[in-house]
Amino acid sequence: MDSLEGLDTTSVPDYRAMMDLHGRGYLVVGAGRGMGRQTAHAISAHGGRVVCADIDPARAEAVAKEVGGVPVVGDARRADDVQSMVERTVTELGSIDGVVDIVGMARYGAIVDTSEEDWDWVQETVVRHAFLVIRAAGRVMRQQRRGSLVFIASMNGISSAPFHASYGVAKAGLSHLVKTAAWELRPFEVRVNAVAPGSIASPRVAFTRGVDPEELADGKLASMGRTSDIAAAVLYLLTDLAGYVSGQTLAVDGAILAKNPFDMDEPPLPAGKAMGETTEGTHPTP
Ligand SMILES: NC(=O)c1ccc[n+]([C@@H]2O[C@H](COP(=O)([O-])OP(=O)(O)OC[C@H]3O[C@@H](n4cnc5c(N)ncnc54)[C@H](O)[C@@H]3O)[C@@H](O)[C@H]2O)c1
Repeated sequence: MDSLEGLDTTSVPDYRAMMDLHGRGYLVVGAGRGMGRQTAHAISAHGGRVVCADIDPARAEAVAKEVGGVPVVGDARRADDVQSMVERTVTELGSIDGVVDIVGMARYGAIVDTSEEDWDWVQETVVRHAFLVIRAAGRVMRQQRRGSLVFIASMNGISSAPFHASYGVAKAGLSHLVKTAAWELRPFEVRVNAVAPGSIASPRVAFTRGVDPEELADGKLASMGRTSDIAAAVLYLLTDLAGYVSGQTLAVDGAILAKNPFDMDEPPLPAGKAMGETTEGTHPTP
């Protein structure tokens, strides 16, 4: 063994190769649009093959065509559909090295005005399917002793979620599910993570507002994020670069969650001045 003072001669991995997904198969659930479509492209650009699963047949078909993937139609909220998405991935691609599940939507309303039906719809749409995906894909990955699962959480599951409480609760639950699954699947070399987007100009969000997604997100930190920003983070979590990362929810939010609770966009005093400082010296602070 080297002495503490010696030079570091430990081996250096091939970092470029760690981003290579050639020979691997991935299932993207909700691949037909937005973050799912961008994720399918990101995987394919790094050599991975993709099954593009979506509830909408035309979208599944279109994105599969773009990335040379396999379209599969199914509803992520249904256990039998999730099971067949996983099985189709194994039969079509020969292996299932990763799954990305991007499905999720909020219904809005103050807590006091929320119906039980709306509350339950959001729980099912945001978190229940993640359990189905972990169960179906996790069984195969546990057997093959490798795999990476990535979900889309939200900053609203980390901070509060005014006027969409059920969504915030479900996304917080999703981050918790990710941690628990990560620990349970750790002995089998299966990693489980999530990406928590900030405010993203996805086609669904932009078109609801009647604007073009590219108008809302200009690539600057202070604007809305792009769906490709989320896909890039998902890609990292799928690759061997993240081989020791599991149980995490990675915020991709242009620093929104880092905001101080008080408005402080510029220094409140000239540089180098403390609050209450006088020429005689600084007043003792309580
Ligand atoms: N846009 C934002 O600002 C924002 C912020 C935080 C989190 N998120 C989360 O990002 C994720 C993706 O949002 P988006 O707007 O890019 O996607 P989206 O809602 O446009 O959906 C993407 C695709 O998923 C498909 N899909 C919907 N329900 C499905 C189901 N049950 N089974 C299979 N496919 C289904 C749709 O047909 C669509 O093609 C969601 O989980 C959302 O909660 C979005």
